[in-house]
Amino acid sequence: MNKDFFCEVTSKCMLNEETALIEILCPEIASCAVPGQFVNITCSNFLRRPFGIASVNKEAGTFKVGIKIVGEGSEELASMDEGEGTWILGPLGNGFDLSNNKYILVGGGSGVFPINFLYEKLSSEGKSVKVVQGFRDASQIIMNNDDYILTTDAGDAGIKGNCCDGLNTLTDEDINGSTILCVGPMPMMRAVSSWAEQKGLDCFVSLEQRMACGIGICLVCVCKIKAQEQGIEFDHKRCCKDGPVFDAKEVIW
Ligand SMILES: Cc1cc2nc3c(=O)[nH]c(=O)nc-3n(C[C@H](O)[C@H](O)[C@H](O)COP(=O)(O)OP(=O)(O)OC[C@H]3O[C@@H](n4cnc5c(N)ncnc54)[C@H](O)[C@@H]3O)c2cc1C
Ligand code: FES
Repeated sequence: MNKDFFCEVTSKCMLNEETALIEILCPEIASCAVPGQFVNITCSNFLRRPFGIASVNKEAGTFKVGIKIVGEGSEELASMDEGEGTWILGPLGNGFDLSNNKYILVGGGSGVFPINFLYEKLSSEGKSVKVVQGFRDASQIIMNNDDYILTTDAGDAGIKGNCCDGLNTLTDEDINGSTILCVGPMPMMRAVSSWAEQKGLDCFVSLEQRMACGIGICLVCVCKIKAQEQGIEFDHKRCCKDGPVFDAKEVIW
């Protein structure tokens, strides 16, 4: 059952001029959230705004979300300070399947937040994990780690190029047997999915559709998913409830 919690901001830091990382106290969400899930946060606009869970601290009962300012809702939420509160619905959606022992994580845009949660979880379990992050240019780099393979379109930091150029620097030993988990802009996820297919690897992506209710009722977030085994070309799935994580082979790009 989905629950709505009134939650307090416990800390905030600005990662760059347009992106805030906010820590929120909510033991109920922190205790059960898994990587790939999201929360739907109330702002003074009519609809809530969805944000991927970026990190969890079960002992402290807190979780973090990264908020890039793109409009009024995200601006209001990114301006919240320690001690302020709002209603938050979550954790929502289905997380990634983490049953393999070897992963390659690929993140870009606001996808770097759920990728951070994935990295924390997989590395704490001692699993093999490589991370490729892609940004437009050096000024956009956030949530980076020295262990990650960094790419920038502008070439002013890391490898010049996109995430697939970063993936191409991995060795056969890194690649063989890995599952790819990718969160970022659609063109990036499509390219990474095609790269994975060429290498014969499983790939799962998290789709970022516009959302309203976040709990499967309003159908604002439907996307087309292949359904040949049901005798039809595609089916409509609710990104919030049936996803946001989907097998890349099933996505109609
Ligand atoms: C499952 C999910 C997880 C997300 N996780 C994060 C996250 O971790 N961090 C983060 O910063 N953002 C994340 N987003 C995107 C975030 O929800 C939107 O940026 C936010 O709702 C915009 O609200 P706004 O009122 O500021 O902008 P609006 O005024 O609603 O929109 C401003 C502009 O942003 C575009 N936009 C809004 N929402 C989306 C979207 N979902 N996809 C593409 N373009 C959009 C609009 O088309 C418009 O051009 C996520 C979205 C989804 C669906
Ligand atoms: S946002 Fe309402 S059904 Fe997905």
